[in-house]
Amino acid sequence: MTDTGVSVSTGLENVADLEATLESLLSVERFDPSAAFTRRLPMDADRAAAEADPNAFWARKAEELLTWHTPFTQVLDDSNPPFYTWFADGMLNLSENCLDRHVAAGRGERVAFHWHGEEGERRTVTYADLLADTQRLANGLRSLGVRAGDVVGIFLPMIPEVAVAMLACARIGAVHNVVFGGFAPSAVRERMEVSDAKVLITVDGARRKGRTAPVKAAVDAELGDLPALGHIVVVSGPGGTGAPMTAGRDVWYHELLATAAPDCPPEPLSAEHPLFILYSSGSTAKPKGILHTTAGYLLGATYTHRAVFDIDPDTDVYWCSADVGWITGHSYIVYGPLSNGVTSVMYEGAPDYPDYDIWWRLIEEYKVTVFYTAPTAIRTCIKWGARYPGRHDLSSLRVLGTVGEPINPKAWLWYHVVIGGGRCPIVDTWWQTETGSALISPLAGVTSTKPGSATLPLPGISPALLSEDGEPVTEGTGILVITKPWPSMLRTLYKDDERFVKTYFSRFGPSTYVVGDAARLDADGYFWIIGRIDDVINVSGHRLSTAEVESAIVAHEAVAEAAVVAQYDEQTGQAIVAFVTLAGDRSGDEATEAELREHVARRIGKLARPRRIIWADDLPKTRSGKIMRRLLRDIAEGRELGDVTTLRDPAVMAALTAKVGTAR
Ligand code: WTA
Repeated sequence: MTDTGVSVSTGLENVADLEATLESLLSVERFDPSAAFTRRLPMDADRAAAEADPNAFWARKAEELLTWHTPFTQVLDDSNPPFYTWFADGMLNLSENCLDRHVAAGRGERVAFHWHGEEGERRTVTYADLLADTQRLANGLRSLGVRAGDVVGIFLPMIPEVAVAMLACARIGAVHNVVFGGFAPSAVRERMEVSDAKVLITVDGARRKGRTAPVKAAVDAELGDLPALGHIVVVSGPGGTGAPMTAGRDVWYHELLATAAPDCPPEPLSAEHPLFILYSSGSTAKPKGILHTTAGYLLGATYTHRAVFDIDPDTDVYWCSADVGWITGHSYIVYGPLSNGVTSVMYEGAPDYPDYDIWWRLIEEYKVTVFYTAPTAIRTCIKWGARYPGRHDLSSLRVLGTVGEPINPKAWLWYHVVIGGGRCPIVDTWWQTETGSALISPLAGVTSTKPGSATLPLPGISPALLSEDGEPVTEGTGILVITKPWPSMLRTLYKDDERFVKTYFSRFGPSTYVVGDAARLDADGYFWIIGRIDDVINVSGHRLSTAEVESAIVAHEAVAEAAVVAQYDEQTGQAIVAFVTLAGDRSGDEATEAELREHVARRIGKLARPRRIIWADDLPKTRSGKIMRRLLRDIAEGRELGDVTTLRDPAVMAALTAKVGTAR
C-alpha cells in the first residue's frame, strides 16, 4: 500500500531509470488516492444512498441530472423481466439535455469541441454552434421524410458533424445507427439493410495518415440498390474530394442545412423512446443490434461521466481518444460530455501521424485535464518510447482512464508514471456496448486502485460471480453477471427479442444478466476481468466474432472450410488466427494468404484481417462434427494440447502440430 509520490521527471530522460522505476512499482499491489489529488465531487452520499435503495438513488439522480418535459412518476418497472423499463411515463428530449439547457443557462459560447484535424487544422465548435446545426439538420432530415422511430444510418469519420448527426436524430426521435468508419462498405450495407435505414449520412472522403479514401463512391457501389434507403446525405469532409451524387436521392449536408429552417423545437419523447442501435459482435456471424432507449441511457452516461472522472464542466478539458463508431464514443465522446456541458477535444487522426507525439502535443496545446484511452494504445506508445510524451508538458492532466480490455500492470504503471507523472488517478472502466455506461470502475481520487483491476461496482450496480452451476462465488473466479437492472442497460436486440433473452438472460434466469466475461473476485471484493467466455475476440479493444470472420473467409471461392481463434498478442491483446482448408487440390501460398486477408478487409474491415493463416488439410472435429476451437487455440499459442479423446480423428491434430511446429 502506498501513496506514490513518483516525480514527473523520473526516468523520462533515461530509459534505464524508467525501467527501474516501473520494475520497483510492480511489487506495489495497491495505490491509494494521493493526498495531492483534490476530488471535486464528493461521492460518499451516493454510495450510501445507492446501497440503501438503488431505485430511489436512480430516481434522485434522474431528477437532478436530467431536464424533463414531463416528470416521471414510475422508476423501474420489473414486472416483465428481462424487459425492464425506467422512468417510463416521463417525457424529455435528449438533444435538449445536451444542448438547449446549456445555451439557456448562458453557456452557449462554451466550447463543446476543440476539433483538431489530421493536417493540423483547428475548429472551435461551441454549444450554440452545435445547437444551431442540430436544429437545421433535424429540419433537413424531416424534409427528407424522416419521422420519429425511423432509422438513420451514420457512417462518418471523427468530425463534429458526427455529433450533429446523432443529436439531430435524437431531436426528432429518429433512431441512429452509427457504423464505425473503419468498417467496409459491405458491413455498412448489412447494418443498413437489417435495420431498414431510411437515410444514410456519410462523407465524400475520409482522411487517414495523409491519404483520402473515397467513401461516398464506395458506399454507392455497395448500397445503391437498398430499397428502404431513400436518401444519402453527404458531408463535404476535411480536404473534401467531391463525390458522385444521384439526383433526387443524394443531398449535400451543407446545402441541406442552408435551406432548412433554423428553429426546430425539441420533440418531447417518452423516456423509453428508442435512441440508437449499435451493432456489436456476438457468437454467431450475424451482428447483434443492441438497442438503447432515451432517459435511462442518458442518465447512465451523464452520471458515470461525472462520477468516475470527477468532471467539473466549468474547468475541465476532456479528451476521449476512441472513435464515435463504438459505444465508448457514443457515451463518452458525445452524450455524457455534452449532457454535462463539458469542453472536449475531438481528434480526427491516427496517434502516429504526423508523428508519434501527436497525442501528447494535443494534451499540451489544449491543456487537457482528463484523458481516456485504451490499453492497446498505451502499449503501442510504450513501444514507441517515453521520449515522445517526454517532449511535451503534460502537467495539465488530473485523471487518466482506460477501457476496452484488461490492462496489464506494466502498461498501467507506465501510464501512471510517464503520462500521469505519478499524480493522476487511473480509472480502469469495465463495461460493454450492452451496459451503455461504465459499471465497474474506480471513482477518481476516491477508490484505491490495483493495477489490472477494474476495482469495485459503481453506485447502483450489482455485479456478482457465479460458478458454472450458478452458485455464488465470493472469492476466486467465476462467470460475471449483473443481478439487478440498471437504467442504461440495453432494452433488447433490434427486432429480435428472442435472441436478446437467449443471449443474456437464459443461463441463470430472466433477472440475471450474463455479461459474457469471466472475472476474479479478490479478498477485498475487487473485480479482475479475465476476458470473454463466448466466441468473441477482442483485438485492440474491438469486438469481433469468430463466426463473422469465418463466414467472411469461407465466402472466398478458394476456401472449403475455416476456423478462427484468438491468439495472445502483446500489442493488441488478442490477434486473429485462421485455420483454413482450401477447396480441391489448391495449396496455400503467400499469394493466397494475401488474397484472403484482403478479402476479409473488403467484407468486414481491416481490423478483422487475420494476423496468421495456417493451412490445414483437415480441422479437428468432435464425432458430431463440431470444430474444436479450444485445440486450435492451443496450437496457435504453442501450448500443450488439451484433451483430444473426443476427436473423431486424432491424426488431424498430429498433422497440424507438425505443420505449425515447422512453420513458426
Ligand atoms: C472488454 C467496450 C477488461 C470485456 C466499452 C467486455 C474490458 C467487452 C474492459 C465489451 C476493462 C471492456 N477491463 N475488459 N476495463 N472494458 N472490456 O462492447 O470483455 O466493445 O465484455 O464495449 O470488452 O466490449 P464493447
